[in-house]
Amino acid sequence: MTETKVLLPESALPDRWYNVAADMPNRPQPVLHPGTGQPVGPDDLAPLFPMELILQEVSEAPEVPIPEPVREILRLWRPTPLFRAHRLEQTLGTRSRIFYKYEGVSPAGSHKPNTAVAQAYYSKQEGRERLATETGAGQWGSALALACRLLGLECKVYMVKVSYRQKPYRRSMMETWGASVVASPSEETQTGRAILESHPDSPGSLGIAISEAVEDAAGRGDTAYALGSVLNHVLLHQTVIGQEALAQMDLAGAFPDVVIGCVGGGSNFAGLAFPFIREKIGGKEIDVLACEPAACPTLTRGPFAYDFGDTGQLTPLVPMHTLGHDFVPAGIHAGGLRYHGVAPLISQLVLDGLVRAEAYAQNDVFASAVTFAGSEGIIPAPESAHAIHGAVLNAMAADDEGIERTILFNLSGHGHFDMAAYDDYLAGRLEDFALPEDEIQRALAAIEPLPKPA
Ligand SMILES: Cc1ncc(COP(=O)(O)O)c(C=O)c1O
Repeated sequence: MTETKVLLPESALPDRWYNVAADMPNRPQPVLHPGTGQPVGPDDLAPLFPMELILQEVSEAPEVPIPEPVREILRLWRPTPLFRAHRLEQTLGTRSRIFYKYEGVSPAGSHKPNTAVAQAYYSKQEGRERLATETGAGQWGSALALACRLLGLECKVYMVKVSYRQKPYRRSMMETWGASVVASPSEETQTGRAILESHPDSPGSLGIAISEAVEDAAGRGDTAYALGSVLNHVLLHQTVIGQEALAQMDLAGAFPDVVIGCVGGGSNFAGLAFPFIREKIGGKEIDVLACEPAACPTLTRGPFAYDFGDTGQLTPLVPMHTLGHDFVPAGIHAGGLRYHGVAPLISQLVLDGLVRAEAYAQNDVFASAVTFAGSEGIIPAPESAHAIHGAVLNAMAADDEGIERTILFNLSGHGHFDMAAYDDYLAGRLEDFALPEDEIQRALAAIEPLPKPA
């Protein structure tokens, strides 16, 4: 019987990130300038991002070395543990073996610091003194606040207004690490002021907060913009997760039949899955499953199209599965999964049949989260609970078929700041939002005039 925790020594922390773009059968299509319809070049992005990150964004090298100062900070919590979920298996009565990689041991409580540290490091190297970003549920803002503090940079966070009100302690956490946090839409940017004028009660959205942070960074020479998901370089930085997991599964004497992650913009999913997709492209049989909310079903119901990454249409056009930049998802509790698009790398892998997706209703997801908490102990973030639910469904389906599977999922974060969501679930107050097809079609009308992918 495998041990409960499979741990790696610090010396096993990866020294390279893995770039799936080098192995994909079809590279993602280029990101386009919305004005000219032409591919965006490094010069277009230079006001927002440090050059090293722009080069990583377009890199085709299979591996990118991780700078030693970044590894030195990652060692505060990495390598993260891999667990064999013996007690969950017993609770479910399944014959399958379930493993999970736990990213909630980072100081901010999720996988997000893996890229925050790298982004803050390169920004500082290239002389920026300040980073601006957006945050939905607060996980990404906390991660960047932490990274900026550890590397000596200022940090400005535009936090979606509803979360700013619902999650005061996420804000306190960011402020403890020295960040300055403002509710979005804010009076501090043109985008924010325009929205407040037309919708004084706007609860905000990730798309709006991105527009504010981009406007902030574009307007100041000392500031870079940092994004917590979607972009190629962000997914690249997360691949330490899957590389460690490969080594840990090996130590456990197992290899997964199924690899599962939840998908908002796609970074934790990519972090775990991409090193396994390399194995899949190399001939191993692995089912790679992306789990999303039924209230924001980007991969399962959104077309593959060019779209803006933000509501204010300040970003380039990105080739991705999208529900349209005007789409405002229902107020489900997995705030980090309420985004209208998904990373181009993942969108392309779905198109090419290397990744498949499923969408779940939030009451079902919380039921699995509570089952998990009651067997493994950890109270998961509502986002991560989508991956748990995917693993539970998979194990039950295997039992129905009379087979045993080895299932691996990413537990991307803990839910200690999400207890209001658990309160609502336990009191029976959570609604399942059935998203009408009409609403999807309405939001997609906004991308009709945009260029179409080849
Ligand atoms: C714990 C956790 N998991 C998952 C996500 C979704 O983001 P991504 O798809 O980039 O991993 C978030 C986003 O905030 C998160 O906080």
